[in-house]
Amino acid sequence: MGSDVKSIPIIDITPLMEKSDDPKMAEDGRVREVVRQLDEACKEAGFFYVKGHGVPDSLVKEAREVTRKFFDLSDEEKHKIKLSSTTGYRGYQVIGGNLTAGNPDFHEAINSYKEVKPGEYGSLGGPLEGPNLWPDNPSNFKYVIDKYTWQMKELGRKLMRGVALALGGPVEAFEGDIAGNDFWMMRLIGYPGLSDSQRAEIKLTDIGCGAHTDDGLVTFINQTEDIQALQVKNRSGNWINATPIPGTFVCLLAEMVKILSNGIYEATMHRVFTSSSKYRVSVAFFYETTFDKRIGPFDFCVQKTGGVAKCEVAVYGNLLAEYVAGHLITDK
Ligand SMILES: [Fe+2]
Repeated sequence: MGSDVKSIPIIDITPLMEKSDDPKMAEDGRVREVVRQLDEACKEAGFFYVKGHGVPDSLVKEAREVTRKFFDLSDEEKHKIKLSSTTGYRGYQVIGGNLTAGNPDFHEAINSYKEVKPGEYGSLGGPLEGPNLWPDNPSNFKYVIDKYTWQMKELGRKLMRGVALALGGPVEAFEGDIAGNDFWMMRLIGYPGLSDSQRAEIKLTDIGCGAHTDDGLVTFINQTEDIQALQVKNRSGNWINATPIPGTFVCLLAEMVKILSNGIYEATMHRVFTSSSKYRVSVAFFYETTFDKRIGPFDFCVQKTGGVAKCEVAVYGNLLAEYVAGHLITDK
């Protein structure tokens, strides 16, 4: 297994997007080549870029633009949709309102999640219940973000069909009980530019978002094109710049893939190191497992790794509840 990749592979997933609902997709030569590349990237690092993903470039840009316009508004305007424990942890989060490893992150954000109806998941879903909070300004915000969400869910579903084949499993391995009622989360994040004096003083702890892995299946990052900030860690422990590449998403495997694959694939450690004078936007879409399902290793992955389940069972809803209770400050 590789361990010290120094650059991030770019995978053209066009064949996978075209054939992912074809019952014979696994036999298609072009799909098989994509699957081979996915397997290599997932084994060696757990991160890669995708191009040919089918999400229109105009929509990718619009999602960043409406986010930027919202963060440009006055605090008074932004606080109209302020995140709190009574909004299901949905809405606007002030700068420093997100903690990673106990340190406040230098960013503001709008957090949204798949809607949770009252009682839908019993006490597990209680903290997340409620509709998302969207601003009135810019007026097309909800329209753009709803459209983007739908497209990203489809991308997540189709990409995971490729990952299932890459693991040597059935194409629908990540569907049904696992992610048939796919949960999603989105964070529209703004990283303010720094002044010269702030940049001179910057320390490694003064970062946009501290090092962490994500909880679900796969994260797609849509980031401002001309600012380097996102970094991913390779297996040797070195940080690699995930430089924005127009027309691509950065994809990061998350903890549920590690569990389901019994450690064949790892979750990607990543962080955001902000040092630009320019404002940066990152639209992070998280494609997740079903909210309330107990997730353990696939049998076919256990068989491939010596017959012993190495990863403990987890429930995504519990991990998300821990995140909102432990990482989101709601009294700012
Ligand atoms: Fe993350």
